[in-house]
Amino acid sequence: MIKARQLVKEYGKGPVAVAALNGVNLDVERGQFVAITGPSGSGKSTLMNILGCLDVPTSGEYYLNGMNTSLLGGVQLAYLRNRTIGFVFQSFFLLPRLTAAENMEIPLLYAGVTPVQRKKMVAEMLERMGLSDRTTHLPNELSGGQRQRVAIGRALINKPLLILADEPTGNLDTKTGREIMSLLSELNKAGTTIVLITHEREIASYAQRLLALKDGLFEADLQIATGGRP
Ligand SMILES: Nc1ncnc2c1ncn2[C@@H]1O[C@H](COP(=O)(O)OP(=O)(O)O)[C@@H](O)[C@H]1O
Ligand SMILES: [Mg+2]
Repeated sequence: MIKARQLVKEYGKGPVAVAALNGVNLDVERGQFVAITGPSGSGKSTLMNILGCLDVPTSGEYYLNGMNTSLLGGVQLAYLRNRTIGFVFQSFFLLPRLTAAENMEIPLLYAGVTPVQRKKMVAEMLERMGLSDRTTHLPNELSGGQRQRVAIGRALINKPLLILADEPTGNLDTKTGREIMSLLSELNKAGTTIVLITHEREIASYAQRLLALKDGLFEADLQIATGGRP
């Protein structure tokens, strides 16, 4: 699903250049649930942006679902991204003037799905996310957990092969965070590959594999026997 070789990312040029990634190698098989941990500034978000084709590495190669992304232009990359990946972020990134249903519908608009089909798919996803009674609510009328469920519904609605989640529980209380992690575990059991970024041990323990990033390099890669907590 993911194959990264010697990924280097530098921000800025010359004496002020900051190296955020220093030659990262990563293989993630389809169906895995991987957690990437590391202290603030270790390069987690930089890596996630590259894995999500939101940014390109300074050097190195990144293959997503068998495609060498360095050979793709912007339009092709956007297509691959929209077809393959669902994103979940710490700050939800919902559009404030759109309802829960409208936020979930956005990827379907880009994908050119017909209005009748869109309505059906959004209704199903609202139901699946436990939000059927919040359809017409705006984001600021929803709790943090509900907002994140709208964002997860939006990430899932195009049936992505891969979910990239950057600190998805970072703005949630412990209980709500656990609910969101249970939801991600269920999605993984149903076959979706998940790469989760977190600096919280408990959150990482939902994964089957734990990678520790430090100063732009992986320093550990562990299988967690008890991964996918209930
Ligand atoms: N857009 C940017 N411009 C310059 N430096 C950046 C930028 N984004 C991140 N960095 C730097 O790269 C390093 C890694 O950042 P980041 O990937 O955000 O780490 P993390 O998500 O682990 O906190 C940090 O030193 C950060 O200051
Ligand atoms: Mg970050």
